[in-house]
Amino acid sequence: MADEVVWIDGALVPASEARVSVFDHGITVGDGVFETLKATDGVPFAAQRHLDRLRRSAAALGLEVPVEDGVLRAAMASVLDACPRPLARVRITVTGGIGPLGSDRGAGGATTIVAAADLAPPSPTTAVCTVPWPRNERGALAGVKSTSYAENVIALAHAKERGGSEALLATTTGLLCEGTGSNVFVVLDGRLLTPSLASGCLAGVTRDLVIEVTGAAETDLPMEDLLRADEVFLTSTGRDVQAVDQVDDRRLDAPGPVTRQAADAFAALAAADVDP
Ligand SMILES: Cc1ncc(COP(=O)(O)O)c(C=O)c1O
Repeated sequence: MADEVVWIDGALVPASEARVSVFDHGITVGDGVFETLKATDGVPFAAQRHLDRLRRSAAALGLEVPVEDGVLRAAMASVLDACPRPLARVRITVTGGIGPLGSDRGAGGATTIVAAADLAPPSPTTAVCTVPWPRNERGALAGVKSTSYAENVIALAHAKERGGSEALLATTTGLLCEGTGSNVFVVLDGRLLTPSLASGCLAGVTRDLVIEVTGAAETDLPMEDLLRADEVFLTSTGRDVQAVDQVDDRRLDAPGPVTRQAADAFAALAAADVDP
């Protein structure tokens, strides 16, 4: 395989030599934001939507992304070209940069990193587990793709210990919110529904596109709806539309007809010539 490179603050460096400071605020306090894109044969999917969300996440943290979209697009192209893969995960990370060993941010400006890695194609079905910890829908990081993802790390480990590939979180008031790295849709009484952004879930790029192509409704969904849903599916950059065949101990016939339709509609969109 060709040598992997990483783009850091404008420089392309071999992946094995890529370094950031131990004083970087992303490392010391998780002060940063990120995006994960999927690239097929070197072409990132829905790039503008991801770049727009990166800026929205950064703005929520009072961080400025120090480079134009065109520079980030060129950086993605460089790391993808250096090491061609049929399917890649591209990660853009912007941190608060070098700072003090506390919550105050330094004045030196952000650190920006673009890196790529292999991405495995998603399996068509999966199992999910609910977890005992809520997502704080009123917290400063609600709906923000921040690098402070340790809560997600804990929730995902909990799910994996129980045979799930994803954890589903509730809000503090017991409404369905999202997974650690995915959004969730349910079919109830023949209607396709997904938690609204008021749940604190991330405005997933895949979620938005699936809503557009299916007409799914955004609403409040009590966690108990997971027990009576006819179908459940996850959406994310890495999973596309992925049918859920088990929620905790409850088995579901998956993929059901609505999930199949959503998956087909999303696949058609992804295969189209125009980047959504
Ligand atoms: C918390 C969270 N929710 C949902 C998603 C799905 O978003 P997208 O479809 O943009 O990948 C992600 C992405 O990884 C995420 O981190």
